[in-house]
Amino acid sequence: MEFDPRRETTSDAPHAVYAWLREEEPVHYCAARDLYVLSRHADILAAVKDPETFASGEGIVPSGFKPDEPTIIVMDPPAHTAMRRHVMRAFTPRRMESLTPRVRAIAAELLAGWPADGEIDAFEHFTDPLPIAVMAELLGVDAQDRPLFKRCGDAIVYSSGADPETIRAAQRELESHLEGVFEERRRAPRQDLISLLLSPADDGAALSERELLGLCFTLLVAGTETTTSALGNALWLLDRHPDWKRRLAEEPALIPAAVEEILRFESPVQGLSRVVRRDVHLHGRTIPKGARVHLLWAAANRDPRAFPDPDRFDPLRSPNNHLAFGFGIHFCLGASLARTELRIGLEALLNRAPDYRLDTTNLARLPSDTNRGFGRLPIRLGDGSARRESSRPALQQRRSA
Ligand code: HEM
Repeated sequence: MEFDPRRETTSDAPHAVYAWLREEEPVHYCAARDLYVLSRHADILAAVKDPETFASGEGIVPSGFKPDEPTIIVMDPPAHTAMRRHVMRAFTPRRMESLTPRVRAIAAELLAGWPADGEIDAFEHFTDPLPIAVMAELLGVDAQDRPLFKRCGDAIVYSSGADPETIRAAQRELESHLEGVFEERRRAPRQDLISLLLSPADDGAALSERELLGLCFTLLVAGTETTTSALGNALWLLDRHPDWKRRLAEEPALIPAAVEEILRFESPVQGLSRVVRRDVHLHGRTIPKGARVHLLWAAANRDPRAFPDPDRFDPLRSPNNHLAFGFGIHFCLGASLARTELRIGLEALLNRAPDYRLDTTNLARLPSDTNRGFGRLPIRLGDGSARRESSRPALQQRRSA
């Protein structure tokens, strides 16, 4: 068997390859991409707990691409430690919680534009615009900037392996726009992330403009396409598990646990890489100093050593220690916001179209070295009668609780 990150993200059955890697080749060398691949839960956990050896500073995607600006996700300690402390100011639980009503309103706005029945592309009209609108809200940029965000995000995430100049051009377009926004926020600060991070922290430290540009760029790349992929994967999985689709529509209280299982089962970020700063000896093989190592979160998330019956989709699974948001010093900063988007997005969608069915003959997966998600998701809406009939007792129960 062979492994290639880009092929696996778009394959319908990557898990056979991942199982082979885990069982037969726990340290696999992919010559075509010059990558060593780790796939076992314990090995990946050990790697991310040792950032001195497994460094992010040389880029975290198989192509080795790194943005021009210094940015948190490709920093190593001690610079990463200082940056993360700084940025955490903008990611407090209270700030994240305060976005919840906006996420709900954005989801409702998008669904209000859907036809009463018939077919609609859920990617174009829900899974793609929702995270972009939420990101614009978090940063505090205006709604009319959303198309620019999308164009730049797409150019960056889905062009891995393509000409790095294309990526840089998209990055520059975004940055020159953001510079204008910084200028405005300096003059008239608002209650948003950009205004907050332009102002010095309590210890007097402030981000430079280049650092803030790098952060915005990372947030856009790390926070929109990932959530889009997660929402699309959720629709796909629930279509394949209609009993769960119906149950979650009837019992929305189960959606948060289902979100964790969706992230484990079809991880939106399948893998990210590190570069080793010394020779690493593992499972009888040596990974030489300077080699790029790909950490396959998606394979770890189906490792039978970590999850009983790992190929069973079980939204009631507990515990569910998946690695879909990474682990350790680079653990996803937006995890709680992403969970909110997924919970609210699914609640709203299952309320609007509880009987939806995917047109599986017409789906398209997005090509990427890292992300697994859909770029076309045609769904038939159904008339909702199934839920209206069967959900009455559940709704009544909740009202009287
Ligand atoms: C379902 C959606 C998401 C998934 C699956 C996801 C996944 C990940 C993963 C796997 C990492 C670890 C990177 C590494 O170890 O190299 C990460 C880091 C990060 N994520 Fe997310 N992410 C999601 C949503 C978001 C959102 C919504 C935001 C922002 C609002 C965000 C911001 C970040 C940032 C800034 C980092 C870097 C943290 C650091 O380097 O210290 N992510 N994410």
